[in-house]
Amino acid sequence: MDRKTRERIVYGAVWLACLAPFVWLAAQAFLAELGANPIERLIRQLGVWGLRLLIVGLAITPLARILKQPRLIRFRRTVGLFAFAYVSAHLLTYVGVDQYFDFGAVWRDILKRPFITLGMMAFVLLVPLAATSTNGMIRRLGPQAWRRLHWLIYAIVPLGVVHYYLLVKADHRPPLVYGAIVFVLLGWRVAERLRNLRS
Ligand code: HEM
Repeated sequence: MDRKTRERIVYGAVWLACLAPFVWLAAQAFLAELGANPIERLIRQLGVWGLRLLIVGLAITPLARILKQPRLIRFRRTVGLFAFAYVSAHLLTYVGVDQYFDFGAVWRDILKRPFITLGMMAFVLLVPLAATSTNGMIRRLGPQAWRRLHWLIYAIVPLGVVHYYLLVKADHRPPLVYGAIVFVLLGWRVAERLRNLRS
C-alpha cells in the first residue's frame, strides 16, 4: 500500500472516530433510548464529547513530539472542528430544545448561573478559531498571527473544565480527572516553551 492510500485510510478513521458519538446519540434519540430525561442527556453528552475532542486536540502536539510523528499535527484541525461542531450542537440543543429559543431566558441564565457564563465565554472564544481554520484564512492572517490567535485554546479548554466542575452537583471526580489531564497537557507546553527559551 502506498503512503497516500495509507494516509487516506488514517484520515477516514479519524473522521469516523469523531463522528461516531454523534451517530450513536442520533440513533439513541431516534429509538427514544435516551432515558428518562432525554434533553438533559443529549445536552450533557454533546458537551462532554465537545470537551473530550478539545482535549484530544490539545494532546496532538505533545503526542506528535513525544512519538516523533510530526504528521499527526495534520489531524489537529479536523479534531478541533469536530469539537466545535459538538459544542455548537450542545449550545443549540440548550437554546432550542431546552429554552425554546427564548433568548431573554438564555441571557438571564448567562447572567445568573456562573457555569453557563463560563460555558458561553468558552464558546465565544472558540468561534474565531473555527472561523479562521481554512487555508485561505490562515494565509490572510499570516502564520504568526494565526498561531497567536490559537493560544485562545489555552483559555477555552480550562473554561470548559470549570464549566463542567461548577454544574456537577454530587460526584466531582469526572471534571477533576479532565482538569488533571488538561493541567498535564498545559504543563507540557509551559515546559517546552521554557526549554525553547533556554536553548
Ligand atoms: C467550549 C464550550 C463548552 C464545553 C466544553 C461544555 C462542556 C460541557 C460538559 C462537559 C457538560 C457536562 C456533561 C456531563 O454532565 O456529562 C456540560 C453541561 C452543560 N452545558 Fe456545556 N459546554 C460548553 C459550552 C456551553 C454553553 C455555551 C452553554 C449554554 C449557553 C452550555 C450549557 C450547558 C448546560 C445547560 C449543561 C447541562 C447542565 C445540567 O444538565 O444541569 N455549555 N457542558
